[in-house]
Amino acid sequence: MAKMEVKTSLLDNMIGVGDMVLLEPLTEETFINNLKKRFDHNEIYTYIGSVVISVNPYRSLPIYSPEKVEDYRNRNFYELSPHIFALSDEAYRSLRDQDKDQCILITGESGAGKTEASKLVMSYVAAVCGKGAEVNQVKEQLLQSNPVLEAFGNAKTVRNDNSSRFGKYMDIEFDFKGDPLGGVISNYLLEKSRVVKQPRGERNFHVFYQLLSGASEELLEKLKLERDFSRYNYLSLDSARVNGVDDAANFRTVRNAMQIVGFMDHEAEAVLEVVAAVLKLGNIEFKPESRVNGLDESKIKDKNELKEICELTAIDQSVLERAFSFRTVEAKQEKVSTTLNVAQAYYARDALAKNLYSRLFSWLVNRINESIKAQTKVRKKVMGVLDIYGFEIFEDNSFEQFIINYCNEKLQQIFIELTLKEEQEEYIREDIEWTHIDYFNNAIICDLIENNTNGILAMLDEECLRPGTVTDDTFLEKLNQVCATHQHFESRMSRCSRFLNDTTLPHSCFRIQHYAGKVLYQVEGFVDKNNDLLYRDLSQAMWKAGHTLIKSLFPEGNPAKINLKRPPTAGSQFKASVATLMRNLQTKNPNYIRCIKPNDKKAAHIFSEALVCHQIRYLGLLENVRVRRAGYAFRQAYEPCLERYKMLCKQTWPHWRGPARAGVEVLFNELEIPVEEYSFGRSKIFIRNPRTLFKLEDLRKQRLEDLATLIQKIYRGWKCRTHFLLMRRSQIVVAAWFRRFAQRKRYQQTKRSALVIQSYIRGWKARKLLRELKHQKRCEEAATTIAAYWHGTQVRREYRKFFRANAGKKIYEFTIQRIVQKYFLEMKSKMPSLSPIDKNWPPRPYLFLDSTHKELRRIFHLWRCKKYRDQFTDQQKLIYEEKLEASELFKDKKALYPSSVGQPFQGAYLEINKNPKYKKLKDAIEEKIIIAEVVNKINRANGKSTSRIFLLTNNNLLLADQKSGQIKSEVPLVDVTKVSMSSQNDGFFAIHLKEGSEAASKGDFLFSSDHLIEMATKLYRTTLSQTRQKLNIEISDEFLVQFRQDKVCVKFIQGTQKNGSVPTCKRKNNRLLEVAVP
Ligand SMILES: Nc1ncnc2c1ncn2[C@@H]1O[C@H](COP(=O)(O)OP(=O)(O)OP(=O)(O)O)[C@@H](O)[C@H]1O
Ligand SMILES: [Mg+2]
Repeated sequence: MAKMEVKTSLLDNMIGVGDMVLLEPLTEETFINNLKKRFDHNEIYTYIGSVVISVNPYRSLPIYSPEKVEDYRNRNFYELSPHIFALSDEAYRSLRDQDKDQCILITGESGAGKTEASKLVMSYVAAVCGKGAEVNQVKEQLLQSNPVLEAFGNAKTVRNDNSSRFGKYMDIEFDFKGDPLGGVISNYLLEKSRVVKQPRGERNFHVFYQLLSGASEELLEKLKLERDFSRYNYLSLDSARVNGVDDAANFRTVRNAMQIVGFMDHEAEAVLEVVAAVLKLGNIEFKPESRVNGLDESKIKDKNELKEICELTAIDQSVLERAFSFRTVEAKQEKVSTTLNVAQAYYARDALAKNLYSRLFSWLVNRINESIKAQTKVRKKVMGVLDIYGFEIFEDNSFEQFIINYCNEKLQQIFIELTLKEEQEEYIREDIEWTHIDYFNNAIICDLIENNTNGILAMLDEECLRPGTVTDDTFLEKLNQVCATHQHFESRMSRCSRFLNDTTLPHSCFRIQHYAGKVLYQVEGFVDKNNDLLYRDLSQAMWKAGHTLIKSLFPEGNPAKINLKRPPTAGSQFKASVATLMRNLQTKNPNYIRCIKPNDKKAAHIFSEALVCHQIRYLGLLENVRVRRAGYAFRQAYEPCLERYKMLCKQTWPHWRGPARAGVEVLFNELEIPVEEYSFGRSKIFIRNPRTLFKLEDLRKQRLEDLATLIQKIYRGWKCRTHFLLMRRSQIVVAAWFRRFAQRKRYQQTKRSALVIQSYIRGWKARKLLRELKHQKRCEEAATTIAAYWHGTQVRREYRKFFRANAGKKIYEFTIQRIVQKYFLEMKSKMPSLSPIDKNWPPRPYLFLDSTHKELRRIFHLWRCKKYRDQFTDQQKLIYEEKLEASELFKDKKALYPSSVGQPFQGAYLEINKNPKYKKLKDAIEEKIIIAEVVNKINRANGKSTSRIFLLTNNNLLLADQKSGQIKSEVPLVDVTKVSMSSQNDGFFAIHLKEGSEAASKGDFLFSSDHLIEMATKLYRTTLSQTRQKLNIEISDEFLVQFRQDKVCVKFIQGTQKNGSVPTCKRKNNRLLEVAVP
């Protein structure tokens, strides 16, 4: 969510008034009271228009946090309560956005907070300007230059523990985007007298104390220093330690800052060596030594210190020693050397120390400038920050104070000029009539000091350059002559008798009425300090140093560059640099911070009205307000004005559509503000009297309260209404859901109940229907039965007269007869074929005919078998009988049998009758031949076979030779007892003969024949018909045969392939004959 823009104003929640211009009535008292009130509420900043008054709080306030920086960033000047950040922001934005170079002038007396203010401005600008590694480094270097310069240029004074003892003007340079590029620091006149002497309660420059407290032992040893402050004459002891200041820690900060700024280690060391040398110089002491000519000559008391200094700075000890004892004056070609007395020697020593230190300081500033200078040559925008030593009034004021106060005088001058100028320009810009304002212009004081002909500085220079004896007194005399009539110059000796009896004005002093008060200057030292002379012998000795930094600090010591012309005096140098500064400042847009010191005790919470009153007076702040208010006290651009007060008029509230100026006009008319109270500028409204503004503010406040109430009312109404609407909507939703739920539940309940009831009713109805149907059916059946009986009775009653008593039986028989008749007729048409092997037979139609049906089938089968048999001739019958006999004998017993079924039994294979060869044989046989066939007779001895004709007749069995037909053996059938054969597929068979019979003398026969089945069958039949005995036929794969006296076992085995496809017979031994059947 975008952050809501809240337009605030300086006028909101004001403590006192934030802008003194609005003070009503405007008196010194109200002014101070307002400052005090704000100070007491920690509001240390107050505006006079665009000028910021800052009252030193002497304690840290939580108003400089990064959040505060953010608050003030990009806000209008008058938008928030007065703050130094507001001024910084205004200056920075005006620089960045409007291309106007800026200067920030920070004035106020010593300890008023100028240096702090300048640091705050710098840190604010650093925080809000661009970011990035390079930019950050530049910022860091700019910020870190402060600790270094403060260490070397600041000291504790009675007024300020961290008093700047030099003037500083820093130009921060920016590029077109507002990113910092670098900076240039100018320094103004360091108060170098402090190096050798400090007023009571004050300290030398911080760096001395920091070095002695913070340096490591090694560093101290290297610098030939001791940690004890009391060892050094130049360090005042009464305030060597400052409360709340940690010198040691600050030393580390300074070393670190030097590193950040870009000092090389050797440079930093060289700087510390110079500092050490200055400290040690103070310890050189002189003693008088009478010379022959009666003059005193100074001698160094203890040369040890000198030796160490020379070692530190690499200066030839004798050179330095001589420089402390003699002074060479060169005029034209002459060189005159005079000895120095002790006082002169001390003067020379101190001059050297001061010069060394102040030149070191200038070198430091230059060195820092080298580091922070912008690296580009593009056009830069500049923001100058001026932090100069504040206006000073001490007990003893000398040349330094005079210079410092002159500088402040000039600043006041530029302030007056620029403020007035700006004010005037604004009036012209805004086309408003300009009214003249009376104010004190300090130009006259500036003139007293800097006038080229009769200004104090000019006269000091004149004195310094004048030949002859010149002392501070001659200078004062001159002043008394020239300035006597000047309004702001006071002196006892002046020709003007006004001060002749003024005892507060000593004779050796003059007094100047500065804009900030009267200051009494001791004239002593003015000439010397202005001359700023360093004996040439000393500068030459320094130039001869092996220490490069020291050598570079004294270029005039180079004999090759000897310059007899006097160097410009300190006063004229300062005047020139101040003039340059003023010219510089005039080209820039000024922003003022006027610092006020609330008390002299450096304490928080104390607001000394007298002290503040004094500062307000000399800073001319009341005049400032008056100038600002002359004509019009308050001005504001039309837009913010309309924005702020538009709620006071119906036409402009809440929105004014036209131009802002018209809006403001309408608004002011409506509010009936008297026309003389305001004036319309080009872009701003000018309000003459703060009263009017406060009236507007009061009205606004009142109206805001009303509006707040209104808004509250509307908001509350809106809130309640939205809440109510929400509740109502919610209620409707809840109710709808609840109703739906309830209805659904009810519906489901009803549905369930309906289903239950329905099912019960259906069940009941169904049962009822079933009952009815059953009843109906029973009724029908009963009716049928009754009807049948009844019909029966009727018919019987009707027909009784036509039937005899057993008519029922007759009908039954008749019916049966009909059925049987029908059965037979149907059977006739369904008769199966006459083939005896046809298994078909029509199904049985009636159960009661079951046995008849089976019988009929059997009869039919017998009949058709008979029919079939009747077709055969007698011979055929015989053959079939034989075949049947064979089947009975061998089927499923002998493997050879199946192959014999298809073969017709022929019996006489050998046609003996027809073959003449067997005529004799035929003749020998009288009986009918049943079998004539050639068989293989197996030789009993070796199992080999010989062909024999096998003949079977009705009574005998004959074997005859196949070739000759001669009968070999004749066996009557009665002697044949048994035939043995195997169960296998072979034709071997044995015929066993009755023991003891004639034929049996040679033993049983073993044959093999292809027609074994036929032969065995015929033999069996013939034996049966002839002997009425069944021939024993043994089927076994092992049987015994009687050969003569031996019983030989014939064994049938499974033949192997190599035995061939016919069975083979082999005599194995006298007990075994083996037949291999394939
Ligand atoms: N805004 C401030 N917040 C807190 N303390 C402050 C502030 N301004 C000044 N001080 C305190 O006042 C002391 C003096 O301030 P500062 O050194 O800025 O004075 P000055 O005006 O620079 O004096 P001089 O002219 O002697 O250099 C500071 O050391 C600090 O303790
Ligand atoms: Mg300062």
